[in-house]
Amino acid sequence: MEKALWYLLAGTRGGANRARIIRLLDDRPRNANQLAEALEVDYNTIRHHLDVLLDHDVVETLRGDMTEAETVDRLRETVGDAGADAVVSDMAPNMTGEYSVDHARSIHLARQALGVAEDVLAPGGDLVVKAFDGPDLAALRTDMDDTFEYVRSIRPDASRDSSSEVYLVAKGYLTAPIAAGDELVVDVVDRGDEGDGIARVDGFTVFVPDAEVGDRVDVRIDEVKPRFAFAERV
Ligand SMILES: C[S@@+](CC[C@H](N)C(=O)[O-])C[C@H]1O[C@@H](n2cnc3c(N)ncnc32)[C@H](O)[C@@H]1O
Repeated sequence: MEKALWYLLAGTRGGANRARIIRLLDDRPRNANQLAEALEVDYNTIRHHLDVLLDHDVVETLRGDMTEAETVDRLRETVGDAGADAVVSDMAPNMTGEYSVDHARSIHLARQALGVAEDVLAPGGDLVVKAFDGPDLAALRTDMDDTFEYVRSIRPDASRDSSSEVYLVAKGYLTAPIAAGDELVVDVVDRGDEGDGIARVDGFTVFVPDAEVGDRVDVRIDEVKPRFAFAERV
């Protein structure tokens, strides 16, 4: 891979632009139009550079039906053990024109994306998923709320006025072994910078107020963040 990168970025005409593309994409996702604008290069040139990067496996693509386990297995394998920083789904069903059917299918695809995110995201990772607004959206959002630190819904300016599409943006994939509301007995093993006791549950940090190292205390989990939780004594 190092050899291929050297060739693609330094050894060929266009290498400098490819390096600038990679730098921009490392900063945040952009489509070919946005790259063309940022680099003041025409769209077809950008597409060419993206194709070159694809041809040399600098960018890996998988093609498949995300409702099939086989596709998800391939994706999981490609992402590897470290997990993904983000999952972005722009999936949409073929439109039938029947609103309730299109809405239900869109929610089904969004739930598929949520399942994939739960499979491949690293702790603290993010999910952006498109869905058509409608009666089943709230339940999807509630399920995402349980799995992520927080969720916001956004209607980008680019969406047509009449369009019912929303993007749910979920930040901070929670992989804690505990959930808000859990009641447990913990041993305080350390002291935090602000004086709270620190307990570990399967290695996960739980802050316990008004507790000293060596105490064994009954707590209820108040709030769970990707890497730690706050508890209250009960
Ligand atoms: C709105 S388009 C996405 C456009 C895309 N963001 C782009 O810039 O080309 C919706 C896409 O969802 C894809 N899609 C629908 N059902 C899918 C499924 N089960 N698995 C994978 N992709 C699916 C369709 O093939 C279609 O390309």
